[in-house]
Amino acid sequence: METLRHVVVLVHLVGFAVLFGAWAAQAFGGKRQITRMMDWGLAIAGAAGLALAAPWGLADGVEMNYAKIGTKLVVLLIIGALLGIGAGRQKRGATVPPAVFWLVGLLTLANAGIALLWR
Ligand code: HEM
Repeated sequence: METLRHVVVLVHLVGFAVLFGAWAAQAFGGKRQITRMMDWGLAIAGAAGLALAAPWGLADGVEMNYAKIGTKLVVLLIIGALLGIGAGRQKRGATVPPAVFWLVGLLTLANAGIALLWR
């Protein structure tokens, strides 16, 4: 079970990589648009994250930090809302507000930071 949990962590990291990579490609040299790839990354990270939110496959003595997991879930929902707002604007031919675009990347990085630094 521990190995399976590590595999789900890997899937979770793939989701993070897809979301952040898609955003970085748009931020640096792209048109600063919201892309489908970002939605996919968020969905993968979110689904794997929810699976990891349950206490299974943990090494002896390891405890879950539910405050941290809850915070990450709230941040994920905010990112989802921002992606929705940005994509909606794009559909109507408008540009994505810079605050919306930059917050997507910043909050994605914040969630990775929370995962690694909040012990
Ligand atoms: C954009 C969204 C997210 C990003 C960028 C992200 C990023 C990460 C990263 C980089 C790690 C690896 C940390 C390590 O190696 O210890 C991690 C682990 C984890 N994440 Fe997320 N995460 C996101 C969303 C979520 C959500 C929504 C949940 C749960 C509701 C979640 C639950 C977890 C858990 C439980 C772990 C620890 C895995 C373990 O060591 O067993 N994450 N996350």
